[in-house]
Amino acid sequence: MLPLEMLDKRMDAPQCPPVSPPPCLHALHARNVSLKLFPVTCEYIKGEKQFYYRAQQFYEDVPASEEGMLGDFMEIGNVDLEGSRQFLKRFVAGTHCALDCGSGIGRVSKGVLLPVFEKMELADMMEHFLLHAHEEYLGDDADRIETYYCYNLQEFTPPKHKYDVVWMQWVACHLTDKDLMNFLMRCKKSLRPNGVIIMKDNMARQGCKLDPIDSSISRHLDIMKCIIAKAGLEVLAVEKQEGFPEVIMPVWMIAMK
Ligand SMILES: C[S@@+](CC[C@H](N)C(=O)[O-])C[C@H]1O[C@@H](n2cnc3c(N)ncnc32)[C@H](O)[C@@H]1O
Repeated sequence: MLPLEMLDKRMDAPQCPPVSPPPCLHALHARNVSLKLFPVTCEYIKGEKQFYYRAQQFYEDVPASEEGMLGDFMEIGNVDLEGSRQFLKRFVAGTHCALDCGSGIGRVSKGVLLPVFEKMELADMMEHFLLHAHEEYLGDDADRIETYYCYNLQEFTPPKHKYDVVWMQWVACHLTDKDLMNFLMRCKKSLRPNGVIIMKDNMARQGCKLDPIDSSISRHLDIMKCIIAKAGLEVLAVEKQEGFPEVIMPVWMIAMK
């Protein structure tokens, strides 16, 4: 059973006040690249932004399994993990503790982070993913998970000065520009000296692309870099994940501090 104190859960999502389009979106509107994105992400249903409400609904029906984490592309799992391990190697300074954001069942924690870091923490909005990670998927390595944070990242503030690496894979796409920028700022404060944030995500070939099924936004790499710069972070390296089928959107890894 998951020790209760390890599951730090907050279900009471605050009412989100209306927000102005972040500067990146202003720029996009000006260049006529991405229209209609702001209205879609800022409608309300049951007190939450429609964008977040739909993602919550989507993941409630996703099974707590590797298939669930990878959708229709199970075959990319090993290539993905190997690409991540090689990229991570270039940036590991300390090996004390890492945070896996949008961890799901801990697929990345298991295959990339736990072999490197002494301790880990996982953050995800879905309780059934975190429970499966702890009770089954991570096996004996679950003993080295210090905390499971069951939070929406847009409302989550990680502890300060704690992590050598903050990993965010396939979850930046689930945050609005403004929430992503603010979350990156909070992650920056959570790093130990020489710590890095690594983001791995789908990047649109052009502009921004909204997927209404899982409620995610894929952004062009330049747009993502703009959000990262607004968060006060410096990009250390960007690398495209090679070996994925051509039919899927390009996936890039970005290391920043
Ligand atoms: C495509 S899965 C990726 C899981 C994992 N990073 C991996 O690569 O296997 C996306 C994960 O992000 C989580 N997620 C989506 N939106 C979130 C949010 N706003 N806050 C926290 N977690 C979120 C989902 O619950 C899901 O576990």
